[in-house]
Amino acid sequence: MLGPQGGGGIPGRVGLAFGGDYNPEQWPEDVWPEDIRLMQEAGVTLVSLGIFSWALLEPEPGRYDFGWLDRIMDLLHAGGISVDLANATASPPPWLAHRHPESLPVNRAGSTLYPGSRQAFCPSSTAYRSAAQALTLALAERYASHPALVMWHVNNEYGCHNAHCYCDVSAAAFRRWLERKYGSVDALNEAWGTAFWSQHYSAWDEIQPARLTTSFGNPTQELDFRRFSSDELLECFVAERDILHRVSPGVPVTTNFMVPNFKNLDYWTWAEQTDVVSNDHYLPGWEAEPHLELAFGADLTRGLAGGAPWLLMEHSTSAVNWQHRNYAKTPGQLRRNSLSHVARGSEGAMFFQWRAARAGAEKFHSALLPHAGTDTKVWREVVQLGDNLRALAPIEGSRVESDVAIVFDWDSWWAVEGDGHPSADLRYVDHARDLYSALWRAGITCSFVRQGADLSGYRLVIVPTLHVVTDAGASAVSEYVAGGGTVLVGACSGIVDENDHIRLGGYPAPLRELLGVTVEEFFPLRPGERVHLTTDAGEEWTSRLWTELMTAEGCEVVASYSDGPLAGHPAVTRNSFGSGTAWYVSARLEAADVAALIDRVVEDAGVQAVAAAAQPGLEMVRRRVVAAPGSDRPGATYLFLINHSDTAIEVAAAGHDLLTGDTYDATTTVAAGAVLVIDESAPADFEEA
Ligand code: GAL
Repeated sequence: MLGPQGGGGIPGRVGLAFGGDYNPEQWPEDVWPEDIRLMQEAGVTLVSLGIFSWALLEPEPGRYDFGWLDRIMDLLHAGGISVDLANATASPPPWLAHRHPESLPVNRAGSTLYPGSRQAFCPSSTAYRSAAQALTLALAERYASHPALVMWHVNNEYGCHNAHCYCDVSAAAFRRWLERKYGSVDALNEAWGTAFWSQHYSAWDEIQPARLTTSFGNPTQELDFRRFSSDELLECFVAERDILHRVSPGVPVTTNFMVPNFKNLDYWTWAEQTDVVSNDHYLPGWEAEPHLELAFGADLTRGLAGGAPWLLMEHSTSAVNWQHRNYAKTPGQLRRNSLSHVARGSEGAMFFQWRAARAGAEKFHSALLPHAGTDTKVWREVVQLGDNLRALAPIEGSRVESDVAIVFDWDSWWAVEGDGHPSADLRYVDHARDLYSALWRAGITCSFVRQGADLSGYRLVIVPTLHVVTDAGASAVSEYVAGGGTVLVGACSGIVDENDHIRLGGYPAPLRELLGVTVEEFFPLRPGERVHLTTDAGEEWTSRLWTELMTAEGCEVVASYSDGPLAGHPAVTRNSFGSGTAWYVSARLEAADVAALIDRVVEDAGVQAVAAAAQPGLEMVRRRVVAAPGSDRPGATYLFLINHSDTAIEVAAAGHDLLTGDTYDATTTVAAGAVLVIDESAPADFEEA
């Protein structure tokens, strides 16, 4: 079963999932048999059905029309294709807003957002919630025992367009949430620091959501409003999930996340509530190496799944339609992208969407079946991917190996990018990605963990901008190092507590002893400004965006600022703490210098590349079969080698390639743009298993 327990694939199926969103309601029924035939030709195993079909399923309140859905469910089943069935609550029909105008979302400035697009509902609306739950129940009762059903798909990309609602219904819900959290207005006043700017509250009714105001809003109010908004949508999910669990026990329930770019939901709390973590990822087409961003998102998704298998629910075969310029994928890029997700733990590759639309706002979005039909580059690559995923069946349920963890924290993301901070240029994900990218280039796979997690299983822990640090979060890092671990802490960490109040006594107060430093002042840089550092090995490194004035207190100074206002002061340090080592980098280094720093930290921690040797453009990841009921090859390893460059690369690797059947003794050549998945264990290794 795919899910936190791992081992195996989606219930009722063998092999990796391949398919995508299927919207048959947008096409005449006589197209459906052709859909099924072509799905079979491509090797499609799973479709996500009915995601935006509420208005057709329930054309009037309480009157359901399931006829078309019955027919397509039966056709899919007869065609051997499984269904991830949506409960269709993502986009309410126009009648809901017509009858309940108060169910519409309101933006920060107080303007109502009307139907005409999608997701036009206030997350706290009782009218929306009860209509959505009634539809969920009706669908669950009708399809719980349909043989095509293998998974429930609740809503779609929660909060994509309506994460923050500022209407009066939301205001009342926010007050209730605050009352539960703080118990008294006095406790809220203390937590929000309302002695500042005459913000002291005397009664709950005076408190507002973080509405548009005259100047910077109260930062703790902003933070709590973000937490509330994430929880409010989660409450919608949990209520619908519970109905599905009750009526169709045993069928896993998922909802698709938007990692790594979606700031508005704290996915750590969401992941705890889903049976299967699934994710939608769209390539940032404007980036020079978008596959690094893809890998970051895939590894973060696996972290949310607790290291267990997860599912790539959507990506694109080629261009999307919502970026400023929508770049088509180059030949082979579709396959590299899909298999990179699979390398990093996805139990398949799903897409938006099956058949390219002819109407609606997404008609220029690519699909598995393009407007131009099957004699096309995209279709040929889709068919090839279907073949490849079948050949990769042995990897199903195996786990990704990694010695390095990155602590990722939504509170810190929210708080550090708030108004009134030392520099608006300090972007949370950018910093995490700088450090991640250097590890990717060194051929090292990372896992992601939440603040406060047990770190003992890792050789190295990276802590990028842990701006909001809890006592538990600080202790987890310190205890890990005391016990022999190696940590690299990034700039602007350990600054505030969970109420966004400064931790006094010199930054980063709760990590000072661990790091052996005191930071006293921030020195952000101007756009384009550069400051240089000299290392203890005589190298010159360069910082952009950010520097800090700090004093070394018993630690080694690895690099000092060599020019600018901080010339002569430490910039990068290394401290022995207990049996371990704690590095601190107070600057935002240029990519090449992050790489040089990571080389030293990695060596200190004894972390090795996945295979010898890392080379530009080569992605390397290893999946290992875990000992679990049903796994007949525990310990077998599969090495994914993905060449994103335009030259052939030689790697030390032996075994046989699951995709081509070729066997390699000691070295392997990965052709430009190619993907190899090497079964590293000779069949003889398992004869006794
Ligand atoms: C996702 C969404 C899909 C489709 C897709 C287009 O955000 O879940 O419904 O809109 O983007 O890229």
